[in-house]
Amino acid sequence: MKTLIKNGHIVTAVDDYHADILIVDGVVEMVGRNLPVTADQEIDADGILVLPGGIDAHTHFDMPFGGTMSSDDFLTGTRACAFGGTTTVVDFAIQSRGHTMQEALETWLEKAEGKATIDYSFHMIVSEASSERLREMQTMVDQGVTSFKMFTAYPGVFMVDDGGIFRALQRSGEIGALMAMHAENGSVIDVLVEQALARGETAPKYHALTRPPEMEGEATHRVITIADIARAPIYIVHLSASQALDAVMAARDQGHSVYAETCPQYLFLSYDNYEEPGFAGAKYVMSPPLRPREHQERLWTALKRNDLQVVSTDHCPFCMKDQKVLGQDNFAKIPNGAPGVETRMSLIYDGAVSQNRFSLNRFVEVTSTGPAKMFGLFPKKGTIAVGSDADLVLFDPQGSTTWTAKTAHMRVDYNPYEGRTTQGAVRMVLSRGEVIVDGQSFLGQNGRGEFQKRHRFQIQ
Ligand code: URP
Ligand code: ZN
Ligand code: ZN
Repeated sequence: MKTLIKNGHIVTAVDDYHADILIVDGVVEMVGRNLPVTADQEIDADGILVLPGGIDAHTHFDMPFGGTMSSDDFLTGTRACAFGGTTTVVDFAIQSRGHTMQEALETWLEKAEGKATIDYSFHMIVSEASSERLREMQTMVDQGVTSFKMFTAYPGVFMVDDGGIFRALQRSGEIGALMAMHAENGSVIDVLVEQALARGETAPKYHALTRPPEMEGEATHRVITIADIARAPIYIVHLSASQALDAVMAARDQGHSVYAETCPQYLFLSYDNYEEPGFAGAKYVMSPPLRPREHQERLWTALKRNDLQVVSTDHCPFCMKDQKVLGQDNFAKIPNGAPGVETRMSLIYDGAVSQNRFSLNRFVEVTSTGPAKMFGLFPKKGTIAVGSDADLVLFDPQGSTTWTAKTAHMRVDYNPYEGRTTQGAVRMVLSRGEVIVDGQSFLGQNGRGEFQKRHRFQIQ
């Protein structure tokens, strides 16, 4: 099968030019001006940006959490990704206590099988640092699962003590894996939650008030220090607070292999959302929580300057109607997480490029090339080059998109960005050369997505 994309405005993390792209059997075969070739299918991209497909390195589809399941599975979640211009996700398989990583990997492969409509891979959540689990980390890497996630938060569920985190970091460093860390001080937060509830403070906003930014800064500094002693690279997930950013920047200034992502919610939403009337603040209950507005511009600047390398979503949706409502009388029972896979690319384009915060190249870098390199998918994914998968987004910079829960494809009954209009519109999406989104139509088959074995971590 040959597809020719004509006259597109091709933008990668480093390039910006007008050319044709010839795709043969799902792979970019040629890039050039006025290519003298015929194809089975021709797509006119005049006036349209042709970008590498987005890579969302932090999603939770079909995830058991907070006494319920995230409301998007691999079918609805990946379809929503595609509509939003994302063509690869790295989701999280969970090694839960008393179970092996192999069991977890097989469970999550089964969840995706027959459903995923775009390519996918997994990080492995480590909830025990026993010698058996530490040994198993190597077998994960051998199967292309080259990154792990640990928590200093959620005591009794995912939290592992500092000694366990140190051992797992030593191991990840030895075997060429990257450890991702959820950094908040879970033990102190638990006390703050208990004390707030004892005072009768049950509304959603107390979720944020009991998870102060200082506790994210402290845990971020702590895990970075532990990683340094373990001689391992470390990646901080869903960084939300300037205190945590300070810790990342200080380590990077000293030359340490410390990396971090932030998410659109921390760039566009704030503590003020928790003050919305009634129970509406529950829409934004996630961990870490939304921060006061003054944190936002620091995160944008850090993305511009490469102090933060990736924007992912932490997509973990729960419906207000029968899931968030579990915490109607107790904020600590509100399932933690919010939707975002469909809005990520458009929001970041709007906030970064349209609002002149940074370049189109940097936009591609933080949403596609950066995560591809960080998580061992590059150059198969994350760029437009001869030999790369033809995962492409045709993005119309003259268009605009108005976001509502009704018109979005995520399986959740609200949109945190309800009513917001972003500059630019996804017109078409190709995954391995196949047109899977054309305007409002979804053309991809269920289960067409392929599991991606990822390379080991390479220094960035
Ligand atoms: O609130 C969140 N972030 N839910 C998903 C689980 C996690 O910690 O990433
Ligand atoms: Zn987390
Ligand atoms: Zn997460």
